Amino acid sequence: MKSKINVGVIFGGRSVENEISVLTAIQAMEAIDTEKYEIIPIYISKEGKWYTGQTLRKSENYKDMAKLYASCQEVCLHPTYGDSNLYKVKKSLFGSDVVCSLDVILPALHGTNCEDGSFQGAIEMTGIPYASCNVLASANGMDKITMKMILKECGIPVIDYAWFCDKEWFDKEEQVIGRMETKLGYPMIVKPADSGSSVGITAVHNREELKEAIESAVSYSKRIIVEHLVEQLKEINCSVLGNYYECEASVCEAPIRSGEILSYADKYLGGGKGSKGAVKQSEGMRSTIREIPANLPEKTTEFIRSTAVETFKALNCDGVARIDFMIDQADGKIYVNEINTIPGSLSFYLWEASGVSFTELTERLIRIAFERKRDSSFKTTSYKENIFNYTISGAKGAKGSKC
Ligand SMILES: Nc1ncnc2c1ncn2[C@@H]1O[C@H](COP(=O)(O)OP(=O)(O)O)[C@@H](O)[C@H]1O
Ligand SMILES: [Mg+2]
Repeated sequence: MKSKINVGVIFGGRSVENEISVLTAIQAMEAIDTEKYEIIPIYISKEGKWYTGQTLRKSENYKDMAKLYASCQEVCLHPTYGDSNLYKVKKSLFGSDVVCSLDVILPALHGTNCEDGSFQGAIEMTGIPYASCNVLASANGMDKITMKMILKECGIPVIDYAWFCDKEWFDKEEQVIGRMETKLGYPMIVKPADSGSSVGITAVHNREELKEAIESAVSYSKRIIVEHLVEQLKEINCSVLGNYYECEASVCEAPIRSGEILSYADKYLGGGKGSKGAVKQSEGMRSTIREIPANLPEKTTEFIRSTAVETFKALNCDGVARIDFMIDQADGKIYVNEINTIPGSLSFYLWEASGVSFTELTERLIRIAFERKRDSSFKTTSYKENIFNYTISGAKGAKGSKC
């Protein structure tokens, strides 16, 4: 009998979206085909320690973290190429230090240190295939400034923006304010460049609000982006699944917000923090109130779906991403707001509405991971010649002198 494929589902992390990622991972683990795959849950704590254990698969267990850790085993990977073992941190006196070997990794992480290429870089060092964007796409997708620069260069519509660094703000506050007012004018929206889940984001309508918003944003990030605020905003999200060679767009959704901007509570608490009525635990992005498929003219839907694919390709994505759009209802213009390279709940609800079950989604993600690994194995990574065996006989015309 063929043994199962070991899938390490990795989640949590040193990110403000740690808990949301737990929910994404739990949902994904429920969807993965257990006939074919052995699920190895791996939780990265807010301090950056890695744990494994089946107790990580139930959200209620996260209410008491000390108890949860006590029921798990602390583990690590070694950054040695070809070593796919998951090791026990506390070595056993007898027996193996290896918990298991990971055939493939499904990252269910969100936000800083997780979705921004750092995690992907660590996994690249081991050579284990993983089902998400690579380092470059993850980093470019995470930073709202770099992402918008790339998309603009590719002719993909993005809203007017300006940016600066925290030190510029600390040293030349008046100049920064002047630049934002001249380039954009009120109303604006201030965002930490590399945060997520609406954390540290504020809409501003005057100088006082702008100052306060920047003070808040610099507490989260070194780089700050300020954009023109779309006042008559309709938000539309669309997911793309695949890789550069072959990818497709899902149906579109319209998330419903309760205030000026789509807040953390809108995204994960079904519209309101502490809202009265039945008390229900958050289910991550599953809890967003949304219209699906979004009620849009066919032409608009098609524009959004094709621009989502263009965005996915421009950033060289792999796996599943969600591209968020803004429609300015004042003039009908459509902009790409951002890409989420590991979207909340892996956007399964958009794929289910497009005829792809969550199980099939995880299956395709795993396949994409193996395909990328196979493709990269055909690329040259080192020369056979050993440069130390060459002698350089003179400054001019010497062998190997042309770089
Ligand atoms: N330029 C803008 N104009 C109006 N509202 C915006 C603009 N940019 C963002 N928003 C609002 O703020 C929310 C969060 O911003 P977003 O850029 O998506 O950051 P995050 O990565 O935290 O989700 C959006 O969903 C939207 O409601
Ligand atoms: Mg967003």
